[in-house]
Amino acid sequence: MRAPVRACGALALGAASACNDANSALRPAGIQAQHIGTLFWVFTTVAGVVVLGMVLALALGTLRTRAPDEPDAGGPIEPERRRRLTLHVGVASAISVALLLGLLVASIRTGRALASLTPPRDPNTAVTIELVGRQWWWQVNYLDADPGRQFSTANEVHIPVGKTVVFQLTSRDVVHSFWVPRLHGKRDLIPGYETQLTLRADRPGIYRGQCAEFCGFQHAHMGIDIIAEPEAAFERWRAGQRQPAAEPRGELERRGQQLFLSASCPLCHTVAGTAAASVVGPDLTHLMSRNTLAAHTLPNNSANLTAWLLDPQAIKPGASMPPNILPPDAITPLVAYLTSLQ
Ligand code: CUA
Repeated sequence: MRAPVRACGALALGAASACNDANSALRPAGIQAQHIGTLFWVFTTVAGVVVLGMVLALALGTLRTRAPDEPDAGGPIEPERRRRLTLHVGVASAISVALLLGLLVASIRTGRALASLTPPRDPNTAVTIELVGRQWWWQVNYLDADPGRQFSTANEVHIPVGKTVVFQLTSRDVVHSFWVPRLHGKRDLIPGYETQLTLRADRPGIYRGQCAEFCGFQHAHMGIDIIAEPEAAFERWRAGQRQPAAEPRGELERRGQQLFLSASCPLCHTVAGTAAASVVGPDLTHLMSRNTLAAHTLPNNSANLTAWLLDPQAIKPGASMPPNILPPDAITPLVAYLTSLQ
């Protein structure tokens, strides 16, 4: 008897701690997540009251003793009792139908509220981000009517607080799913097909997102951060990202850049302002402006970058980053160059 009680306690504790979790959908930080959160509580409350009512009715029925003049179950039912039973069943059915209709209306209203968030019409003020799912990272392209102002980054999306942002979602390989619980519900990224998601963060902060559709071996290592910041900070960040990469300073960084460009790195990566311009892997132009490496697998610092270059397959087995074939003395200049890409 004690084990089930303990299990229930653990479950309740787990559920309660999930509510306090920094990335919980029950702590909305944007209008879309707020709508979804409200709907969740409406459904939970109604379902909870119904379950309690049913348990109570069942308990009353079980505990109730039959009156001395009441016939056995299965025997003939008196007309008065039949009338009462019919009335009870009718009332219970009407309540069920009314509740289900109420939930349907709440669900439709939430859907309409989610769809009513539209971005500003002016393409110069709208922020439109193309998010491409890859095995296993996120390619983030900031679109612009002027192609010269477009830029790419990876696994980290900056957005201005209080402004509606449009995400155009697609995938290059398998089906992924974009989910940032505190800002919106899930949306699939489907190869060859574009879906759209509109959201607004109403409070500044870093909101953790995660691929929510099993997409292969490293599905769990496919995290993304949405960084919502005041408009001035966002504009500063965006202006910085539009700049080409910093020129190497000093001999070590210069040697690192030569190694980078002569090894196989440019076959997969872009560093704007150099000959490296491939989009197979993440854009490295401003690599060190990002907080994590390999889509939230490691904090981004020179020690982890070194470990990643030396043996990426030990950190993220199955990822497209090939095993290191460079001589040991190449790693230090390479890391010096990469960490200069602020
Ligand atoms: Cu991408 Cu799971």
